[in-house]
Amino acid sequence: MQNRVTRLFNIDYPIIQAGMIWASGWRLASAVSNAGALGLIGSGSMYPDALREHIQKCKAATNRSFGVNVPLIYPDIDKHIEIILEEKPPIVFTSAGNPKTWTARLKEQGITVVHVVSSSKFAFKAQEAGCDAVVAEGFEAGGHNGREETTTMVLIPAVCDAVNIPVIAGGIATGRQMLAAMVLGAEGVQIGSRFVASPEASSHLKFKDLVIAAQEGDTQVSLKQLTPVRMMKNKFFAAVQEAEQRGATAAQLQDLLGRGRAKKGMFDGDLDEGELEIGQVSALIKKIQPAAEIVKEIWNEFETLLQQPLK
Ligand SMILES: Cc1cc2nc3c(=O)[nH]c(=O)nc-3n(C[C@H](O)[C@H](O)[C@H](O)COP(=O)(O)O)c2cc1C
Repeated sequence: MQNRVTRLFNIDYPIIQAGMIWASGWRLASAVSNAGALGLIGSGSMYPDALREHIQKCKAATNRSFGVNVPLIYPDIDKHIEIILEEKPPIVFTSAGNPKTWTARLKEQGITVVHVVSSSKFAFKAQEAGCDAVVAEGFEAGGHNGREETTTMVLIPAVCDAVNIPVIAGGIATGRQMLAAMVLGAEGVQIGSRFVASPEASSHLKFKDLVIAAQEGDTQVSLKQLTPVRMMKNKFFAAVQEAEQRGATAAQLQDLLGRGRAKKGMFDGDLDEGELEIGQVSALIKKIQPAAEIVKEIWNEFETLLQQPLK
């Protein structure tokens, strides 16, 4: 299958492995790219030198396209961009910030730029900023989330109506969901949580095991006064809930969050005290599988259902 997304990234399947802090380093990104999809390095948890090393290792591990996810709220963003302009990965996915700030600079260097959005208004702004495509992330998706709580079922058609550039849907874990997203108008999918449950993800094994045991209702969006984030309901989540019920201010919540919560949970494996970012799709993920097998399984299910989509 060829469409605007496969052509834009020069990949075999319109499947993108999302950039994820403490999960998607060069090992995961290159494994996904070698499997014919697009792997992204998640720079949000990397010091600038680590980012350079991951880009270089990814270049050595695959001759297929790969990219870097850059959350624009990252404190050392200038240094990250500088490294990207020097190392020139072919693709950059920006998120959590204004796409106007860096898109033109990156594109001048021949880099394909995609921005992650949670509304059609932001999708239009990304198109105006010169982005080559957008990822539209619904309320179900893992990690940081839009304030408006728009679900994928509404968001994808709305964004497809708002822009002419290709739309990639988030919050997906299976071939059946991928087909549904494509029927809604998406031309590709960005998959995060499912790839956490792979040996190549750098997430702690305890976190991976928790993800595959997750049931419906085990995740919720929290910390809306700061940056809304979908996470697993654990002891830390309960502490945030309790603080919010007591009327905690944003500053008090920031204090409670402290520094390094996400690393503590997802990388160090402290399942009680850490922040465990994951999507609603965790309820559909049943096993830890090699990244290439995940790509193959999603694609095979998609192709099979495409022949006979309705029951
Ligand atoms: C563990 C984890 C870490 C994430 N870190 C980032 C990040 O650093 N930058 C970003 O733009 N999105 C991040 N996200 C969101 C993903 O890029 C992706 O949009 C999302 O996972 C898609 O939804 P899904 O988890 O339901 O597949 C993260 C998601 C997860 C689950």
